[in-house]
Amino acid sequence: MAIEARRNAYCPYSRYAVGASIGFHVDGQERTAAGCNVENVSFGLSICAERNAIFRAVADCGRIELRSVVVATQDGGTPCGACLQVIHEFAVSNCAIWCVNENQDVRAYSLHDLLPAAFATREF
Ligand code: THU
Repeated sequence: MAIEARRNAYCPYSRYAVGASIGFHVDGQERTAAGCNVENVSFGLSICAERNAIFRAVADCGRIELRSVVVATQDGGTPCGACLQVIHEFAVSNCAIWCVNENQDVRAYSLHDLLPAAFATREF
């Protein structure tokens, strides 16, 4: 799904296409969602693939329990810090992150590997 979503990346400025897919639970059901990066001529308005996938799932389903994230890029790049913090917001403690490159080589990470000291505060 991440590789498929990457085909829709809108990235005329960076030319760095990203696709992301997520696996999550909601109401005891297992579901998936996908997204791609969408850039803007005002660069700061661009959105990453991972956040697009997560926000789409939340918009569709409400609060989600995020189990896995797959990110497809040219070079197997890991999610940026902003996306990691958003992943952390919804993730189960052992949430897996798989990064896949154009040769379909996959590297597995845990959220804790990539964001060991996530910002967290009391539950609201
Ligand atoms: N990008 C993502 O989609 N996900 C990330 O985690 C890092 C960066 C996008 C943003 C921008 O469109 C392009 O990749 C280059 O930074």
